[in-house]
Amino acid sequence: MNYKNAGWRKQMQIKLDYNNMMAEFIGEKEGFTDKEIKNGVKQFADNAFDVVQENRGTKMMGWTELPYNQTEIVDDIIATAKDIKKKFDNFVVLGIGGSALGPIAVFQALCHLRHNELPKSKRKAPKLYVEDNVDPERMAALLDVIDINKTMFNVVTKSGATSETMAQYLIIMDILKKKLGDKAKDHMIATTSMSKGNLIKIAKEEGLKTFYIPDGVGGRFSELCPVGLLPAAVVGIDIKELLAGAAYMDKLCKIKDVKKNPALISALLEFLSMKKGKNISVMMPYADSLKYIADWYCQLWGESLGKAVDNEGNEVFVGQTPVKALGVTDQHSQVQLYREGPFDKVITIIAVDNFRSTVDISNGCEDIPDVNFLCGHTMNELINTERKATEYALTTANRLNYTITLPEVNAFTIGQLLFMFEMETAFTGAMLNIDTFNQPGVEGGKNATYALFGRKGYEKTKEEMDNAPKKNPNYVC
Ligand code: PA5
Repeated sequence: MNYKNAGWRKQMQIKLDYNNMMAEFIGEKEGFTDKEIKNGVKQFADNAFDVVQENRGTKMMGWTELPYNQTEIVDDIIATAKDIKKKFDNFVVLGIGGSALGPIAVFQALCHLRHNELPKSKRKAPKLYVEDNVDPERMAALLDVIDINKTMFNVVTKSGATSETMAQYLIIMDILKKKLGDKAKDHMIATTSMSKGNLIKIAKEEGLKTFYIPDGVGGRFSELCPVGLLPAAVVGIDIKELLAGAAYMDKLCKIKDVKKNPALISALLEFLSMKKGKNISVMMPYADSLKYIADWYCQLWGESLGKAVDNEGNEVFVGQTPVKALGVTDQHSQVQLYREGPFDKVITIIAVDNFRSTVDISNGCEDIPDVNFLCGHTMNELINTERKATEYALTTANRLNYTITLPEVNAFTIGQLLFMFEMETAFTGAMLNIDTFNQPGVEGGKNATYALFGRKGYEKTKEEMDNAPKKNPNYVC
């Protein structure tokens, strides 16, 4: 309950340091001057701020209100999670994209890093599996390790139509019914749209416990609604603290001054960088706990900003390719490219001041100074020193980079981080003058799958696909 204390909240505020985006540090050619930032504010950020403010809580921006409007839902989720914890050993999420990446990211961030491997007495919560693919080997492997009798499934799909998720649902429901008969329904929860799609109909027919994804909350913006909150609560995460963190960040995001609004300044910096041809956004947390925050960010950034047309229908083909990296692991692979390859990237480093464990580096090798220099230090010092070293190496090579620092990884700071990235995405989309919240490219792929599988209503797409040029065998070797 620390988050109820104003002093603690202030202490836990995440910080954004963009010194290394500035000309002062990386030179005039790559970096931005104060004047460029001021002009950017006038030309783009002020308007983007107004657009986002005006649309808050409306249309597909319903997610901005999630930190405030879920009191009853949160109580239901907590009660349901309590019951699940008592009765089940495993909780399996069936879902893909926005229905999976948030739960995975928050689980990795806030639970023990080996949660599923801990003995039950230490874990004190079910194991969590998030099945976000239709690889048959993966499904078979899951079924090899879980006892269906001790497993609760949560099928999550906003559209209630996604092939991958519905295929998983069909497979699991069939197994449940064969094994448990009438009790099958007690092993499946549906999280879906209240008004659209097939899953809601199925859930009603089968008598499943149901949670709803509000209309104005798209898949990739859904982590802070039941999509993410239920799995989080099941594994013991304080979801009220998570939402309090989001609300705390939201207060900062409501400030028009870019110097006080981390989401707005980072949006402006990314937008100005895009205009200079920086088409790649690298997300590099220096903490294993934040590894999958980078995956979640890649979906949010890529699917929201990668658009062919602007709001007036003009072809613009905008977006930045998001890339995930992990510090320090990727210092030994990708950082070579980041420091010496093309000048086409903005690198976001995520730092953690205080890790939840401290590990000393043991004494030894007294007669080998090149190894012994590590002794007397901690792994905590090593990871953060290497982060600073990478920051320095990038900056001296004139590479655009900035750092977001979490005082520690907890539900409050993760709530802030998720909400900050969501707001940054909304601000950037407004600067690009695109629809941040649609995904016609993703839907194109979904429709082609429906057509190839002979789904009714997709005959025209099937015909188009059948008439597409046949592959030339000369180009296959
Ligand atoms: O952000 C999005 O809208 C998508 O990535 C969806 O989350 C993904 O396609 C899954 O969709 P649904 O929740 O309808 O199954």
